[in-house]
Amino acid sequence: MTYVVNESCIKCKLMDCVEVCPVDCFYEGENMLVIHPDECIDCGVCEPECPVDAIKADTEPGLDKWLSLNAEYAKIWPNITVKKNAPARLEGVGGEARQTPILLAKSRHR
Ligand code: SF4
Ligand code: F3S
Repeated sequence: MTYVVNESCIKCKLMDCVEVCPVDCFYEGENMLVIHPDECIDCGVCEPECPVDAIKADTEPGLDKWLSLNAEYAKIWPNITVKKNAPARLEGVGGEARQTPILLAKSRHR
């Protein structure tokens, strides 16, 4: 079992979650975070920290897509261990960018 970050995180970047993770298994994309499923120790500490309920146990239904996305992008996005301010460039972003992970941003494969 692992915890996964879903679409509710997109553009929020509140990052209260990263501060509490004992194994530092959050990774940062352009407009959302993901959890590395092989590093997560299922402690559950981060789940209540997220004010928008973006962190879910993978045992909940309907999370297959997000589990795959977390696993894939945790491999290529940079690790994040401390809370930062939301990037100014994301302020006021709306429409598609609000609903879609910017998946290739910060990828080393670009
Ligand atoms: Fe980190 Fe625990 Fe959350 Fe997994 S469940 S991401 S180990 S805080
Ligand atoms: Fe995202 Fe929630 Fe963390 S919005 S950055 S998963 S506190």
